[in-house]
Amino acid sequence: MNNKKILTGITTTGTPHLGNYVGAIRPAIASSKEKEHDSFFFLADYHALIKSKDRDALRQSCLEIAATWIASGLDINQTYFYRQSDIPEILELNWILNNFTAKGLMNRAHAYKSAVDDNEKADPDKGITMGLFSYPILMAADILMFKATHVPVGQDQVQHIEMTRDIAQRFNHHYGEIFEIPEGVIDKESSVLPGLDGRKMSKSYGNIIPLFCDSKTLRKYVMKIKTNSLEPGDPKSTEDCLLFDIFKSFASDSQISSMKKDLEGGMSWGDAKNQLYELLDEQLSNYRLRYDELMSDPSYLDEALKEGAERARVVAKSNLIEIKSAIGLGPLS
Ligand code: TRP
Repeated sequence: MNNKKILTGITTTGTPHLGNYVGAIRPAIASSKEKEHDSFFFLADYHALIKSKDRDALRQSCLEIAATWIASGLDINQTYFYRQSDIPEILELNWILNNFTAKGLMNRAHAYKSAVDDNEKADPDKGITMGLFSYPILMAADILMFKATHVPVGQDQVQHIEMTRDIAQRFNHHYGEIFEIPEGVIDKESSVLPGLDGRKMSKSYGNIIPLFCDSKTLRKYVMKIKTNSLEPGDPKSTEDCLLFDIFKSFASDSQISSMKKDLEGGMSWGDAKNQLYELLDEQLSNYRLRYDELMSDPSYLDEALKEGAERARVVAKSNLIEIKSAIGLGPLS
């Protein structure tokens, strides 16, 4: 086991899109190929339960996300790839951490506060479950369970990493240096892919391009990317150009400079969209085949996740013994 441990969770709600791929999946897989650290990637399916009570949607999303990671090139033998709900030790730790978490800290969590703000003044608790309220504690358990040192997350999760550090420090202050204090690794601006309308690509904005749809559907989405009203023949700038920004995330340096030259030379938006479509289709088509194969063979995914969970549990069990014994819950003899 390396000293450096990278861990990140993906909440299993929704279908993976191009933004997830460029912002999270592709860089995570690239970094997992480096040998000097261990990588833990997991499906945060208990976190999904907070947002969704739709059994079929939850299962479908789990399937799609697992297939996406493996189809995109994740080496499941070189990483720990597992389902949160397959590691019961995380929930044991969750309870322990509840006792080191100030209620006031949870009162300040953004997701909880915005749910309260959305409510009528009459009943601020309306629709708020204890799951939502204590969501950051479960996330702390995910991270501290494996003594992760680096946690790649989006900007919206930074507060949760701070809370994890706070919880770990309280525990360590009381019982000694048991937990690693993890660092958040925040997506750089460059890795945030814009969606069809120019805002960050996100399911909640309804502006996504799905990652593994068929060619025809992909083309349809690319044609919807917002452009300005410049005519064919008009020189087009690549500054603040949505289509160019998406193109850049997939193209080689020489493809990027020739696209820039063509746009400045008056290429039509239609032709530029065609080029983007062809680039995406070519890059994704190999993965798409594998994705379709995996989607039609869920038992392979089950096996892969089970095997990942078995290896992860070895680590979790051994850490939990250390944690329990620090508290005074170890063997009596
Ligand atoms: N809450 C994270 C999100 O919605 C997902 C997540 C759960 C996570 N547990 C985690 C991310 C642990 C990093 C580490 O994006």
